[in-house]
Amino acid sequence: MNLDHALRTTGSARRFVTEEITDSTIHAILDLARFSPSGGNRQPWKVAVLKSPEMRSEVARLVKPVWDEYMTAATAGQRAYNMVAYQPPAEVSPFPYELLDYFDKGVAVLVIAADLREIAVTDLNLDRPPIVAGASIYPFCWSILLAAREHGLSGVLTTFLSRTEVEAGPILGLPENFALAATIVLGRPEKEFTKLTRHAVETFATIDRFDGPALTA
Ligand SMILES: Cc1cc2nc3c(=O)[nH]c(=O)nc-3n(C[C@H](O)[C@H](O)[C@H](O)COP(=O)(O)O)c2cc1C
Repeated sequence: MNLDHALRTTGSARRFVTEEITDSTIHAILDLARFSPSGGNRQPWKVAVLKSPEMRSEVARLVKPVWDEYMTAATAGQRAYNMVAYQPPAEVSPFPYELLDYFDKGVAVLVIAADLREIAVTDLNLDRPPIVAGASIYPFCWSILLAAREHGLSGVLTTFLSRTEVEAGPILGLPENFALAATIVLGRPEKEFTKLTRHAVETFATIDRFDGPALTA
C-alpha cells in the first residue's frame, strides 16, 4: 500500500467482519512493526496476543467499568481522565461498548506492555505528569495499526486496560517494571475509511514559536 494513502486512511475501525486472524498474520504484522523507533533503540515492548476466550473475557470484564466512567464523564461534558482538571463522576452509568462484542468474533486482541527500565523519561521531574514515557512505545503501536493495513486489516488502539493495571497485571503475567500501554484490536473492517477528520496544518503548525505565524504551504 502506498504510504500517502495508508497515512490518510488508517482510521479507527471498531466494526469487523467475522474472520479468524491467523497467528501467521499477526506475526507478519509484528514483524513489520518491530522496525519502529524507540529511545536508544531499546525496543521496550512486549506483546501478549490474547487467544483464549478466558483471557479475552477477563480483559473485557476489566475494561468495561473504565469505559463506563469515560462515557459517563463524556456525557456530562468532561474530558475523562485528563490530567489537568478531571472530576470523576459521583455515579457511573453503564454504556454499551460494542468493541468488546467482537472479542469472540475472530478479531485479534493484542496487549502491549512497555519495560519502564528501558525508557528515558526526560520530563520526569517537571511540575506536571510526564508525557515523554509513552514516546518509546506508541510509535510501535501505531506501526501495528499501519502494518495491519498491508493485510487488509484495520483496528483501534485503546488504553483503558492501563487503568486496571493493578488487577490486570497478575492476570496477564505482566513482568515486574512493565506498564500496560495499550490494547489493540485488529480485524477485517466492515468498511474501508476514505476520509479522516483532522485539523489542517495551518491550525497547529507555527513558525519559530507556538504563538508565531501559521506555517503555510
Ligand atoms: C492513545 C489513544 C487512545 C485511544 N483509545 C480509544 C479507546 O479506548 N476506544 C476507542 O474506541 N478508540 C480509541 N482511540 C481511537 C481514537 O478514538 C481515534 O484515533 C480518533 O477518534 C480518530 O478517529 P479516526 O482515526 O477513526 O478518524 C484511541 C486512540 C489513541 C491514539
